[in-house]
Amino acid sequence: AELADASIHRGPGGETHQVASDDMPALTSRQGIPISDNQNSLKTGRRGPTLMEDFLFREKIFHFDHERIPERVVHARGFGAHGFFETYESLADITAADVFQRAGERTPAFVRFSTVAGNKGSSDLARDVRGFAVKLYTKEGNWDIVGNNIPVFFIQDAIKFPDLIHAAKQEPDRGFPQAQTAHDNFWDFISLMPESINMALWIMSDRTIPRSFRFMEGFGVHTFRLINADGKSTYVKFHWKPKLGMQSVVWNEAVKLNGADPDFHRRDLWDAIQAGDYPEWELGLQLFDDAFADEFEFDILDATKIIPEERVPIRRVGRLVLDRTVDNFFAETEQVAFHTANIVPGVDFTNDPLLQGRNFSYLDTQLKRLGTTNFTDLPINAPKCPFHSFTQDGHMAFNNPRGRVNYEPNSWGTGPRETPKGFRSFAAEDAGEKRRARGELFADHYSQARQFYVSQSEIEQTHIKDAFVFELSKVETPAIRARVVSHLVNVDKTLAQMVADGLGIKLPAAAEPAREVITDLPPS
Ligand code: HEM
Repeated sequence: AELADASIHRGPGGETHQVASDDMPALTSRQGIPISDNQNSLKTGRRGPTLMEDFLFREKIFHFDHERIPERVVHARGFGAHGFFETYESLADITAADVFQRAGERTPAFVRFSTVAGNKGSSDLARDVRGFAVKLYTKEGNWDIVGNNIPVFFIQDAIKFPDLIHAAKQEPDRGFPQAQTAHDNFWDFISLMPESINMALWIMSDRTIPRSFRFMEGFGVHTFRLINADGKSTYVKFHWKPKLGMQSVVWNEAVKLNGADPDFHRRDLWDAIQAGDYPEWELGLQLFDDAFADEFEFDILDATKIIPEERVPIRRVGRLVLDRTVDNFFAETEQVAFHTANIVPGVDFTNDPLLQGRNFSYLDTQLKRLGTTNFTDLPINAPKCPFHSFTQDGHMAFNNPRGRVNYEPNSWGTGPRETPKGFRSFAAEDAGEKRRARGELFADHYSQARQFYVSQSEIEQTHIKDAFVFELSKVETPAIRARVVSHLVNVDKTLAQMVADGLGIKLPAAAEPAREVITDLPPS
């Protein structure tokens, strides 16, 4: 870029003053008052004191003092880009979602990739799950697929999320580690929550040290529903498949990169898009019905399980292309607010207890983080289709109802009204006792962990083993190490033995598996 050629003159202290010209507007305060000197505060005489009367200084410092907003409580470190989603074929038989009705249709999109545990300033190649959050600005409202680069999750029920995240992030007394899984609290939690063992195998795999965002898969994780115009429901799992394929670095490279360039992933995405080398993913759907759900040996509502692709093949239905970097990191990447409950007509939830909890959590946290209910009006969050509601007021109300009418029904003939094309929830039948319980098919925590491990190539299996040895060797409490290995005995005895050998400990007895049926209340 060419350097700005403003007319320059020097002030009495040698400071540089650049003067507005036809190409460069006058600098003003936030009130629009033109500023003649942005280099010196207002003083009595040459040496001060600085005067309280200097409203221009006061406004500038006031705004600066409040620049920081709370970082996200999880997924604090992220990087976003704009692009579009293109539909390959009409899916009208499966879903009424407008985005899937017309082949070739392009829908604007914004994607934010992230790490989960590290703080905003942590390094890109920490061993961690990556967030893969997609906002589609459809013609019938914003649809967010708020996913990760791993298809399963640590826990089955959102009530455990604060515990999981507390255990994973920095320990409360020492304030470290910032972004590593290698610490006692994290592995203590994992070893006490056997449902997390499947995810533990995935995070010890190379997927948690991706070469770049461009080489990552993405997953919606939960089972959702697609609903067609006749009100028929089909279960769906969402997959993003990178056109470039999947690639990771090895641990040795990750450690060096973290030191040499903590911004490695964000730089990679920025550079690729700036160079016109636009990354691309295909959206894949796994579609299945109630009959499959009833036959499947796990509960399809359990987010710690996948639906194997051999059982339900993936149908590729469109492509996501990222072709534009942000203009302003804060306005777009920081202020974007994804939410699992942002769904459109033709999409619906299931009773997955993790998803149900997320549907509460995101709005709540975003009110705190972005400071007002009106964050939905920020350009990055606002729909790109017409929207009209009667919500009003609150901090920063940009979009209040105009005129007399702020309610409906009303007799004035103005303002928005209900539409038959509006969102209708799928009329799922739900009944049962009110209990703190889990589904009967939520109890097998090891079979899919075993399947994942044996499906890996020999070198990938070695990486998993090495990662377990490395991470657990950083755990100071011997009983926690042994407890993790006792679960691995149930996953794969050879793996458990190799990890035990690597740690120099005796192979512990297998952990007691969960009961088959866990709908009973615990003994009082
Ligand atoms: C943020 C994914 C579970 C609470 C995020 C983000 C992603 C994500 C990708 C970052 C969004 C962004 O880039 O701005 C997931 C996945 C989950 C999961 C895939 C499990 C399948 C949960 C649960 C809760 C939760 C169970 C709480 C009950 C949050 C919160 C944020 C967040 C509070 C910060 C949002 C913000 O400040 O804007 N999650 N999450 N997540 N998630 Fe989750």
